[in-house]
Amino acid sequence: MKDGYYSIEQVFRIKAWDFASAGEASSQIKKILKQLGIDPALTRRVTIAAYEAEMNLIIHSVGGEMRLKVTPQSIIVTAEDRGPGIPDIALAMQEGYSTAPEIARELGFGAGMGLPNIKRCADRLNIQSSVGKGTLLEMYFDIKAG
Ligand SMILES: Nc1ncnc2c1ncn2[C@@H]1O[C@H](COP(=O)(O)OP(=O)(O)O)[C@@H](O)[C@H]1O
Ligand SMILES: [Mg+2]
Repeated sequence: MKDGYYSIEQVFRIKAWDFASAGEASSQIKKILKQLGIDPALTRRVTIAAYEAEMNLIIHSVGGEMRLKVTPQSIIVTAEDRGPGIPDIALAMQEGYSTAPEIARELGFGAGMGLPNIKRCADRLNIQSSVGKGTLLEMYFDIKAG
């Protein structure tokens, strides 16, 4: 990472069903990490996870926000929405499980691989969800020294 750099935090608002802006937050995240000189392989993992989380906010939630936090040791991406929540997180984590509506499937979404992909990409994943209230996804990525 570049010298003199300490830590940054950036917030992105994500609107439900806004396919026109889909992928903008994760593109911005990729750009910021590139500018910070983060290792390309790590940047790629973060961008994939951020993209899947962003699409889930667009397709499955009423909207919310994503946050990127970068410190010298770690990259943390969070996705928080205001509902409808996930009734069964273990089920939602299964490969191929999807409740995506037909219109999203027609656009090529709804393979049910988003959450499993996020789990694979992140060094640590924390999901909290409450039906009727919302979902919080916290994705942690370690920055290795050197
Ligand atoms: N932010 C969210 N709010 C509510 N439900 C969600 C959210 N993210 C994921 N889910 C649920 O988890 C399921 C699996 O998500 P995912 O693995 O990304 O597959 P997909 O998005 O292709 O359906 C979704 O179909 C949905 O039922
Ligand atoms: Mg998804």
